[in-house]
Amino acid sequence: MWRNLFSGDSLPERVWMFDTTLRDGEQTPGVALTVDQKIEIAHALDDLGIDIIEAGFPVVSEGEKQAVKRIAKEGLRAKVCALARTSMKDIDAAIEAEVDWVHIFIATSDIHLKHKLKMTREQALGFAVSMTEYAKSHGLTVHFSAEDATRTEPDFLVKVFKSVEEAGADSLDIPDTTGSAMPALMKYLVGKVKESVRIPVSVHCHDDLGLAVANSLAGVEAGAEIVHATINGIGERAGNTSLEEVAVALHKLYGIKTNIRLEKIYEVSRLVEKLTGIIVPKNKAIVGENAFAHESGIHVHGILGSPETYETIMPELVGRKRRIVLGKHSGIHAVKILAKQFGLNLDEHQLKNLLAEIKAIGDSGGKVTEALFLDIARRVAGEAFRSRRIQLLEMSVAGGEEGQSVVILVNKDGRIESYGGVGPNTITAVVKTCDAIVKKMGFEIIDYKVWPTYSPTGYSEAEATIRSNGVEETGRGVHPEPAIALAQAILNAAEQALLTRKEVEA
Ligand code: KIV
Ligand code: ZN
Repeated sequence: MWRNLFSGDSLPERVWMFDTTLRDGEQTPGVALTVDQKIEIAHALDDLGIDIIEAGFPVVSEGEKQAVKRIAKEGLRAKVCALARTSMKDIDAAIEAEVDWVHIFIATSDIHLKHKLKMTREQALGFAVSMTEYAKSHGLTVHFSAEDATRTEPDFLVKVFKSVEEAGADSLDIPDTTGSAMPALMKYLVGKVKESVRIPVSVHCHDDLGLAVANSLAGVEAGAEIVHATINGIGERAGNTSLEEVAVALHKLYGIKTNIRLEKIYEVSRLVEKLTGIIVPKNKAIVGENAFAHESGIHVHGILGSPETYETIMPELVGRKRRIVLGKHSGIHAVKILAKQFGLNLDEHQLKNLLAEIKAIGDSGGKVTEALFLDIARRVAGEAFRSRRIQLLEMSVAGGEEGQSVVILVNKDGRIESYGGVGPNTITAVVKTCDAIVKKMGFEIIDYKVWPTYSPTGYSEAEATIRSNGVEETGRGVHPEPAIALAQAILNAAEQALLTRKEVEA
């Protein structure tokens, strides 16, 4: 925590988080959420502790207006906001949607004024002021954005902001619409604006140059009290400031309070990933699959001594668990710890054999998942592979453009059983089929994820979590075919749940 570095600056004590996943996030190419999905996300955001939820842009369609209206009527703790241009039609749509806040914007840069709005600066200023007054006269809280602020002539930007403040705006926003700012510019602009106005200032950064989070933090260093962000950083083009990254950085690096319940971050990230279909990259900070995974021998050794050797935050802070991944860089320490976690006490000789097999798989490009590790470890320990209670034997897929059907054969306690399921694609058909298998054992699938590979020599990976009597078990799968990797992951989770159940009952 480096708060003392900023003693001369005006670091706010607290930052309000303005989430725009449902508006700018929904502008991500290829994303379209149903009203029910938007409501589900809005509840998750509220639960996460977001202060202001930008629910949509009501004027774009009747459906969008109804979605915003329904969110506004859900009785959320967060303020619900609607986007509007400086036009009566847009503001009326926000009023009809019954929101608390309206986010009014007009572009102020000469580039936008000339090529998009075909207006003079004075005309844009006039619209900004009159529409702020109009929204205020209807009882709305006005959050005003000067679109393309970072490419706007700074004195004109300040003039616009001072004028809308006089017209009654409640807070101001500085968008880096094209992601063209760097931290020093953001700090300069926020500082300049803050010298001239009294109302809270916010920053809205895009990630075109990968600087959205850094620029948002620079804005806060200069005194911005509100930060716009989206879950998983989704949004137009390269996306927006990633909410999880900025919230954790504010907490960890600056000691600034937010209302965010950090431990809920991963859960909300997974929900948004599933509903939008925008896959979070494995190496993404905080919420990526590998964010708390350690493979190299030196790192694992350090982590086992103390996690802070190679982790800036503890995974539990954001609702995650640390994962030791085995591969060609693994050392004997990691192998020993993981074997113990699977209840296998191996001697030095067995550990060396196990490590040699793991390194050989790593050298040939393969990945040693926990499931695979368990299989090898059991063999090395002398325990027969077929002692598993549930084992995937065969999977067949048939179908065409209309949908897919899957048949899975399993060996369950020595009996061969067959299950089938259909779905719009192979993955959903596998989940349906495996759901029937695990339900019969009294378990339910609560989460799953597949990382397909398109490389002819690569392995797809999958992870699945199932719940049994309130206990969650996570299984992993690896196979060139993603659907088989997923079926393995679910059945490996079931195998672990069966073992846990046996231990509890014993
Ligand atoms: O990026 C942007 O400028 C916006 C505005 C609507 C604030 O999203
Ligand atoms: Zn934006």
